[in-house]
Parts: sequence; C-alpha cells; structure tokens
Amino acid sequence: MKTSLLSAGLALIASAAAYPQFMDLKNLDLKNLGFESNSNSNSNTNPNTQSSWQPKEWIAPGSDDSRGPCPGLNTLANHGYLPRNGKGITLKILEDGMLEGFNIEHADAVLLFFQAIRTSPIPFNDRFDLADLGRHGILEHDISLSRSDAYFADPKPFNETVWAETMSYFTTPMISVEQLAKARMGRLATSKKTNPDFELSWLADGFSWGECASFFEIMADGTTGTVRKEYIDYWFRNERMPTELGWQRRNVTMKSAERMKYSGLLMKAAGVTKRDVASDAYGYPLH
Ligand code: HEM
Ligand SMILES: *[C@@H]1O[C@H](CO)[C@@H](O)[C@H](O)[C@H]1NC(C)=O
Ligand SMILES: *[C@@H]1O[C@H](CO)[C@@H](O)[C@H](O)[C@H]1NC(C)=O
Ligand SMILES: [Mg+2]
Repeated sequence: MKTSLLSAGLALIASAAAYPQFMDLKNLDLKNLGFESNSNSNSNTNPNTQSSWQPKEWIAPGSDDSRGPCPGLNTLANHGYLPRNGKGITLKILEDGMLEGFNIEHADAVLLFFQAIRTSPIPFNDRFDLADLGRHGILEHDISLSRSDAYFADPKPFNETVWAETMSYFTTPMISVEQLAKARMGRLATSKKTNPDFELSWLADGFSWGECASFFEIMADGTTGTVRKEYIDYWFRNERMPTELGWQRRNVTMKSAERMKYSGLLMKAAGVTKRDVASDAYGYPLH
C-alpha cells in the first residue's frame, strides 16, 4: 500500500500543483492508483436521514492536540471525524472524515491529501498532522481571512484583529459572493500595504479562492451563492458545526467541480482574472 500510495502521490502532486483547486479526478482511475473505490460518496443523500442529522460530540482541543490554520479540518477533529489529537491523518481517515462530517466526496479528499502530506516535516510521509499545514509557504499563505500573515504572528490560530477586518465586509445577515470576494481582495490589499514579506504564490492564490468557496459549499448547501453570516462567524470562532444555530450538513455530496464553480464566481465578482493578484476588487492596481 505504501509504495502505491507514494507513486500515486507523486503523480497527483505533479498535476495538482499545476492546477490546484480545479483538478478533475473523475478521469483518473483511482482503483489502478491503489485506492479503494469511492462508490459510497453518494450514500448520504437521503433527505429523510438528513433532516435529523446531528454531528458527533464537539470537544475543545487540549494543549497536546494538533490544530492548524484550516478551520474546516480543525472542526472535523473537534467533532471526532478526524482523530481528536489532530495527528497521523492518512488518506483513508481524511476521506471518511470529510464525507461523514461535511458530505464531501472522496475524490476531493484525495486531491487535498496529496497537498497536505507535502507539509509534513517527514519526507514522503503517508500522513500529516493538522499543525503541519501551518508551515509557512507550503500551503499556508498570506492574506488569510481569519489568520495573521506569518510575518506578524503565528499564522495557525484564529486571530480577532484579522477576522474583524474580514467581517467588516459582511454588512448583511446573508454573506454574498460579492461581499466575500471584496473581503478577500481587501485582505490582499492590507497584506501588500503592510507586510514587507508579502508573498502569494500561484498555488496559494488558487487555494485562497478555494477556501472562500467553502463558505457557500459547506456552511450552506452549495445551491444559493449565499450563506448566513452567523454560521460563518460561529464556525470560525468555535471551530464547531453551527448546529445550535440551525445549520445542517448539506444533503447532496459536494464534488470538487463545485469548488471550481464558486472560485470562478468569486474571482469574477472581484474583477480579477484567474491568476491576477495585482488588482483590487475594482480592478485598480494594488502597488
Ligand atoms: C485535506 C483537506 C484540507 C487541507 C489540506 C486544507 C488545508 C488548508 C490550509 C493549509 C489552510 C491555510 C491557508 C491559509 O489561510 O493560510 C486552509 C484554510 C482554510 N480551509 Fe482548509 N484544508 C482542507 C479542508 C478543508 C475543508 C473540508 C474546509 C471546509 C469545510 C476548509 C476550509 C478552509 C477555509 C475556509 C480556510 C481559510 C481560513 C482563513 O483564510 O482564515 N478546508 N486549509
Ligand atoms: C493578530 O494579527 C495581527 C495582524 O497580523 C497581529 O499584529 C497580532 O499580533 C495578531 N495577534 C495575535 C494574538 O497573534
Ligand atoms: C436536507 O433535507 C431536509 C429534508 O428535506 C431538510 O429539512 C434540510 O433543511 C436539508 N438540509 C439542507 C442543508 O439543505
Ligand atoms: Mg495563512
């Protein structure tokens, strides 16, 4: 298993690095690559079971538990869909955790997994810890919505100051694609202005849009292009599913293609072309 994992990993790293959040795994034969089939990806679409879906117990992380810059995975660990200690996350664990916790298809977990293991300090590791994701400049990047740029402070934990800046763009109870696009471009402008070490790689630029897309895909059901501001604020602050506010896990399994769709809508709303990080939400140069 380890050998096939590694060779599959190298192939996926090559293609995923070229086309991070947009890679379409439908054309890859995962069985030949040594993975189990993902035929149960759609097993959670029955509306009758969905209406009563309750998350597993939320437990705050202890001081020895590994947590990182990703509110999505931290939340899955806090609810026990990933190991509660946040350590030793394998492909299988990630696939099951993302599907059971957020109803995300296995193929999407595969794509992100081969990015995630690049952050492990152990070369060619077949698993990662959540804190590994916070090693600056691999996946962790500047202009985060809720985390400090690494130049100023630890980029892993939730940061009140940064989040207040982001939240200032959310002026209505429902966050729209336009508002989030402007918030993201506002964070970009702030980093360019204030951070002497500012850097946003091509990969990070794409990831950043994909992270924004998750607002509409995971905290809403992916059909509306809006999401309740209360859900987002609660999720980021507590790293907990906002069930007590009425949030429900989406009924239809999320596919990677949906992230492409929302990333595109967000970029369009920001007035940027796919890889343009030089202009603001209104198309004015940022330098
Ligand atoms: C293996 C799967 C995943 C990996 C490897 C991953 C990795 C990361 C990393 C490295 C960051 C930090 C980037 C930065 O802001 O500097 C991040 C941020 C983020 N992730 Fe994940 N993530 C994964 C799954 C998810 C899921 C399932 C969700 C949503 C439910 C999610 C939502 C987010 C969001 C919203 C941010 C942005 C946080 C911010 O800007 O403050 N991620 N992720
Ligand atoms: C929060 O982020 C700001 C801006 O980057 C930084 O100056 C501050 O030190 C951070 N706070 C903490 C507690 O890390
Ligand atoms: C899922 O389906 C149930 C039953 O139709 C519905 O009550 C619930 O609101 C749906 N959840 C989402 C997030 O769409
Ligand atoms: Mg960051």
